[in-house]
Amino acid sequence: MAEHPAYPVGLRLSGRRAVVVGGGQVAQRRLPALIAAGADIVLISPEATPSVEAMADAGEIAWVRRGYQDGDLAGAWYALVASSDADANTRASAEAERHRVWCVRSDDADEATAWTPATGHSEGVTVAVLTRNPHDRDPRHVAAVRDAIVAGLHDGTLVVPQHDRARTPGVALVGGGPGDPDLITVRGRRLLAEADVVIADRLGPRDLLAELPSHVEVIDAAKIPYGRYMAQEAINAALIEHAAQGKAVVRLKGGDPFVFGRGMEEVQALAEAGIPCTVVPGISSSISVPGAVGIPVTHRGVAHEFTVVSGHVAPDDERSLVDWAALARLTGTLVILMGVDKIGKIAEALVAHGRPPQTPVALVQEGTTAAQRRVDATLATVAETVRTEDVRPPAVIIVGEVVRVGPEPTA
Ligand SMILES: C[S@@+](CC[C@H](N)C(=O)[O-])C[C@H]1O[C@@H](n2cnc3c(N)ncnc32)[C@H](O)[C@@H]1O
Repeated sequence: MAEHPAYPVGLRLSGRRAVVVGGGQVAQRRLPALIAAGADIVLISPEATPSVEAMADAGEIAWVRRGYQDGDLAGAWYALVASSDADANTRASAEAERHRVWCVRSDDADEATAWTPATGHSEGVTVAVLTRNPHDRDPRHVAAVRDAIVAGLHDGTLVVPQHDRARTPGVALVGGGPGDPDLITVRGRRLLAEADVVIADRLGPRDLLAELPSHVEVIDAAKIPYGRYMAQEAINAALIEHAAQGKAVVRLKGGDPFVFGRGMEEVQALAEAGIPCTVVPGISSSISVPGAVGIPVTHRGVAHEFTVVSGHVAPDDERSLVDWAALARLTGTLVILMGVDKIGKIAEALVAHGRPPQTPVALVQEGTTAAQRRVDATLATVAETVRTEDVRPPAVIIVGEVVRVGPEPTA
């Protein structure tokens, strides 16, 4: 028989009965989308996987705990037949045919009256990929096509013409992660791909800027002339000025925008100017940079807390807001950002207030980038080590026993 291709359609199942026969792996994979579609789901099966059982316990599906019986498809708009009982599958799909119920069969695509596409979602659209003929295409190929389309839409490599796209208006404050371009979020990457103007810090995934199309204006935040303003005010003014011209502006920041990133100052300035602003979290260097060199910020039986602290002013500086004496009494992990210059005084204060001088310390410079470097010391030796090893910012400094729990580096 000549194969006609399937006719693609989107079923609106909200409040409509869908019957699923069989509670195994196929049901487990397909049920979440049926639940998301709001279908009134009845599962017919003597047993179910723990995940399917959890859906029944949560009231997301009604579970009839027995094998299929003729008449089970009464009132159904849609059926998924996927039990391990071949005879029950055949009888259920025959009932579906008799009552004109569209029926997917996991065990026999030829007997099915409907096929399930591989689906994914991006930017408010659903991508559904169907094979033209289930016999000449490996289902993994169909899933791979779906994955390629969805990934391309997410990361901006599949470019949708601007006028068709729902662009995020105003400014997106995007946490770019610690430096490795792969460590930005999917949403951050998509917003970057949509941007007309990108105002970027020195820290963060600089490599991503090189990928931007030539029409995108990339502004180095450190080079914005600020004249009579403070540098931050000049950045705020630049964000407002470009967004007010109707451009899609991305403010790309290192790590997470709200971890020593002055992100909220920018959010406030934009709110005052009436410019819409969206904030995209990022992977903070405070956790990811230690992790990149095999240091966990917590470890069972070793550290039950970690404290992230800025070391940009010395403990004896009157501007310091940090209670170093209290931090010295903690037994867990201390993660110090912006602390290279002042680490000598910080280590002195920690020891003076009771932290043992032999406490291990690791300094990780330019973590997650090609220039990543780790230097080890103790509270007693760290000031000298920073000098002799010429450790420079940006670096994350980790203080505590977690520094020693990972396996020795193999290389
Ligand atoms: C102004 S703070 C910004 C922190 C950022 N918002 C975050 O969540 O990671 C800058 C400090 O973060 C740390 N830092 C950021 N990226 C780093 C990296 N790739 N390697 C080492 N330290 C980094 C350094 O301590 C640097 O001085």
